[in-house]
Amino acid sequence: MDRLRLAVLVSGRGTNLKAIIDAVEVGALQAQVVGVFSDRPDPYAFEHARERNIPTVFVDPKKYPSREEYDTALARQVMELKPGCIALAGFMRVLTPVFLNAFPGRVLNIHPSLLPSFPGLEAQRQALEYGVRYSGCTVHFVDPGVDTGPIIIQSVVPVYQDDTPETLADRILAKEHLTYPAALQLFAEGRLRLEGRRVIIDWENRAPQQPRDCVLEWLKNKDIIKEVTPNERSNSQHN
Ligand code: GRF
Repeated sequence: MDRLRLAVLVSGRGTNLKAIIDAVEVGALQAQVVGVFSDRPDPYAFEHARERNIPTVFVDPKKYPSREEYDTALARQVMELKPGCIALAGFMRVLTPVFLNAFPGRVLNIHPSLLPSFPGLEAQRQALEYGVRYSGCTVHFVDPGVDTGPIIIQSVVPVYQDDTPETLADRILAKEHLTYPAALQLFAEGRLRLEGRRVIIDWENRAPQQPRDCVLEWLKNKDIIKEVTPNERSNSQHN
């Protein structure tokens, strides 16, 4: 089976990009990162790509008078790599339908809160100031809104009384690095299906030729997801 061709869009330091690349290397994510795109010149994320000889492309927003024109240019360049999936990893622009319609159902994002709480910028500070006891991260499909698309998986972390936005962000980030590759693997295995705005994860219907189908175990071991397979659910109901 062909590996999922993955394009990653970044703006900054790229720790999620690195986690994705690492997951590919250890076989937890059966994909190939075919290109990394940025709206900023030479972000630190490009270092991670260059280390693995992954092509990097800076698409300069200053060259395009409108968001739509920028997105047209970006989509054209991304399209050249024929990606099966586009992962936003700290990409700081809100994509318009011009871009999203070029890759329907194939653009994912990670956000550092339990959506729909605290969308947009400074999600960790928002969570802290609101006073929630738990926060986390969310991987979701991207729609034209700000962090409003259908939710794929979420991971939870506690919020402590002496947290600062930075300490909370670090705790969430550690979960992000496990959660994003796991969500992408579910996508790669073709297990995600939309019903309205609900994402249904098909745990049963696995492609038999999958070389290393370890994502479910991985998700459980890392305590990423509380979801259980239908069998386990009926067992637990009997207990
Ligand atoms: C992460 O917190 C991610 O959730 C958010 O932007 C940040 C990117 O961090 N969308 P990095 O560039 O991957 O280190």
